[in-house]
Amino acid sequence: MENKTYLIIGASAGIGFEITRRLSAQGARVLAYSRRPMPEQLPGVEWQALDVLHPDFKLENLPEQVHGFVYCPGSINLKSFSRVAASELRDDLEINVVGAFRTLQQVYPALRASGSGSAVLFSSVVVQTGMMMHASIATAKGAVEGLTRSLAAEWAPTIRINTIAPSLTDTPLAAKLLSSDEKRQNSANRHPLKRVGTPADMAATALFLLSDSASFITGQVIHVDGGMGTVIS
Ligand SMILES: NC(=O)c1ccc[n+]([C@@H]2O[C@H](COP(=O)([O-])OP(=O)(O)OC[C@H]3O[C@@H](n4cnc5c(N)ncnc54)[C@H](OP(=O)(O)O)[C@@H]3O)[C@@H](O)[C@H]2O)c1
Repeated sequence: MENKTYLIIGASAGIGFEITRRLSAQGARVLAYSRRPMPEQLPGVEWQALDVLHPDFKLENLPEQVHGFVYCPGSINLKSFSRVAASELRDDLEINVVGAFRTLQQVYPALRASGSGSAVLFSSVVVQTGMMMHASIATAKGAVEGLTRSLAAEWAPTIRINTIAPSLTDTPLAAKLLSSDEKRQNSANRHPLKRVGTPADMAATALFLLSDSASFITGQVIHVDGGMGTVIS
């Protein structure tokens, strides 16, 4: 990762922060974007304010070449199907899909210019495994998976793109769902591997997908979900 440039959208917290921290530790240059500043200064990391929900947002000061791109903003709004307002569905699509789509459009020339760019998006286990109360987020993340496969076709062989589909992961986004020992234990028990995910689980997979070790992998949805997407135990 040394001497390479990475662009992380949603770098200030959760999984995006852990990816940024690991890239920094490996000597990479990281252009880090989020609404709030980074919680700590890290070597090689240049933070810029960005709100992907702003109608005219633009990634400022893009370098000529970007070797890796990760889009982390997302949402968890759980409601029964009949209670989801159209505006709430649009909000989920805006942050999970439209934001990824528009940032990818802007970073594409720099990814192509690197000669072997790699992009990573985030879906969710709820696309693979139907769950009550998840209609809105499953709809949005399903679109992320479709976008991944379309772009993998359109961008091969120069740029690879893959998606990670986590199950419940211990980040600020999931704080409400993990706010007591009882909730945490119940969530852990629903997973065949009997724990919830960590930012480290997701960041390790993201760094692999960004690296040359994954140079024969594109268009994939990688399930990092403690077995929840495929196994009953
Ligand atoms: N955590 C889970 O249980 C879980 C489960 C399945 C899938 N996922 C997916 O995994 C991905 C990462 O999730 P996470 O848990 O790490 O989320 P998180 O804790 O909410 O962190 C999201 C990051 O995105 C930034 N962000 C949010 N809104 C933004 C906006 N409008 N413009 C720019 N940046 C914005 C946040 O920073 P600012 O607030 O400073 O902008 C933060 O740095 C998401 O796509 C999520 O849907 C997570």
